[in-house]
Amino acid sequence: MGKYIIAGNWKMNKLPSETYDFVKEVAAKTAGAACEVVCCTPYVCLAEAVRAAKGTHVKIGAENLHFKDSGAYTGEVSADMLLDLGVDYVIIGHSERREYFAETDSTVNQKTIKALEKGLLPIVCVGESLEQREAGVTVSLITDQIKAAFADISADDAKKVVVAYEPIWAIGTGKTATADQAEEVCAAIRNVLAGLYDADTAAAITIQYGGSMNAGNAAELLAKENIDGGLIGGASLKSEDFSVIVAAAK
Ligand code: PGA
Repeated sequence: MGKYIIAGNWKMNKLPSETYDFVKEVAAKTAGAACEVVCCTPYVCLAEAVRAAKGTHVKIGAENLHFKDSGAYTGEVSADMLLDLGVDYVIIGHSERREYFAETDSTVNQKTIKALEKGLLPIVCVGESLEQREAGVTVSLITDQIKAAFADISADDAKKVVVAYEPIWAIGTGKTATADQAEEVCAAIRNVLAGLYDADTAAAITIQYGGSMNAGNAAELLAKENIDGGLIGGASLKSEDFSVIVAAAK
């Protein structure tokens, strides 16, 4: 299955002035990790994060990007800007961006294409709401989200995409999907990818689970066949907790 990747998603937490020391702490506490370790930070923290990660195994990611190359888009940040800073990863289509910032399956696809074209590694988020889960449409909804996100992306490029399955009802709520619930959807995602491409391509794609993953539940989730890592919000803000999750990914 895909390469194991544990990525922190700081969201709108931590200050630029806190970033250098924190990333250094993460690097020290996760030294020798068996998986890729990524800190995704707010735009204003990225330069300090890259400076701190330099010469360590830690990779830095952004939490968003714009799909245009450049131009009159006040307040937006392009792939070239992120690359110029030394950023490797970028989260695309997080449910909070879909909900509060009008991201759609179409913008997620455009951003994923742009990231790949420029050489950033996209972490593409998909997930269902509680209503959708209770209505029994989880797999069909996620199938649609995956198909839309990967539209016009070649098999070679698809292998560079990380998919994060994040049930919206589990994000920041302390309500984790059970390992079986998470595995069921991650396996369904792998199936959809195998249909879009082929089994080898689907097997090469890293599929993360995200949603209240923490030091206590990470090992059980990460033991599942189709869960190749985690996208971690709250628990990525404490280096101790984050390092326990990283240690569980092998
Ligand atoms: P959480 O957030 O770990 O705080 O639930 C995960 C995410 O939104 O990526």
